[in-house]
Amino acid sequence: KQDEMILAIETSCDETAVALVKNGTEIMANVVASQIESHKRFGGVVPEVASRHHVEQITVVMEEALQMAGVTMDDVTAVAVTEGPGLVGALLIGVNAAKALAFAHGLPLVPVHHIAGHIYANRLITEMKFPLLALVVSGGHTELVLMKEHGSFEVIGETRDDAAGEAYDKVARTLNLPYPGGPHIDRLAQDGAPVLNLPRAWLEADSYDFSFSGLKSAVINTVHNAAQRGETIKPEDLAASFQESVIDVLVEKTARAAREYDVKQVLLAGGVAANKGLRAALEAKFSGLPQELAIPPLYLCTDNAAMIAAAGSIAYQKGKRADWALNGVPGLDL
Ligand code: KG4
Ligand code: ZN
Repeated sequence: KQDEMILAIETSCDETAVALVKNGTEIMANVVASQIESHKRFGGVVPEVASRHHVEQITVVMEEALQMAGVTMDDVTAVAVTEGPGLVGALLIGVNAAKALAFAHGLPLVPVHHIAGHIYANRLITEMKFPLLALVVSGGHTELVLMKEHGSFEVIGETRDDAAGEAYDKVARTLNLPYPGGPHIDRLAQDGAPVLNLPRAWLEADSYDFSFSGLKSAVINTVHNAAQRGETIKPEDLAASFQESVIDVLVEKTARAAREYDVKQVLLAGGVAANKGLRAALEAKFSGLPQELAIPPLYLCTDNAAMIAAAGSIAYQKGKRADWALNGVPGLDL
């Protein structure tokens, strides 16, 4: 085998995903079967429903990925899989599929952290330059991660309550928007003006931590108070005001950390990285700063397996291996 070919599996939440990535950066196939339609009517991801869909989808998605890449298992160097964090029942489907595949074909099994995957989505579009700072914003996480080299992750700040994506989804519910609400708020915000004065949680002056639950409550209260006065607030303005509060804090703290840690590069990662307002605000901020900014395309921001393969390739090269006792770990540390 001349080329390294990683087959990666991701099933931590509500996407069944399999990808094949050549030599760490070249996407041969990146198949994602989304379950959003099944969860929509419940207004969020139902873990048991997610697991059942993963069971139904995993072999179909795997075969489709191999076919799309035009390779067979004989071409595969190693199998990488998301070990955690995520929904335990969902993780287990991917982990067991990966174990079966690796065992049957005598291949190494490489465990990958889901957030490492989100960060490494950037490796599929650009060379990573260390030290770097990653802003990870997803449905379950909001973290500033400092990386001094491949495979080394130092969390310098994280959310103390809701994740950014979670706040988006909860505010969307208040506005009766479908799940997941992030993209809907994003779209509304484009047509609104940030006229409402909503709070920004800066926390202690030197802290890189985040907090979004106060903002979420402020939005809910604003809507209820207006309703009591018989007024309505334009949903576009509410979305724009909420979004501006979230983005202000994310961008400011990221820029401050980039300066303090004197990083070469700033990477955006996670599902909320798909947010148009956040992308534009980061681009505007960093256009005047020395740090290079990388933002992956949308399809690499939300959950996918190509990012797991990109992180898995580095882990594979560093000799990271799992044995047949590998389990899904819902609260896995980075
Ligand atoms: O990374 P991801 O696909 O799954 C997790 O690992 O959590 O992130 C999903 C989150 C959801 O909360 C969704 O509402 C949010 O990303 N999201 C967005 C946008 N697209 C997805 N949030 C704001 N603006 C968007 N355009
Ligand atoms: Zn994710």
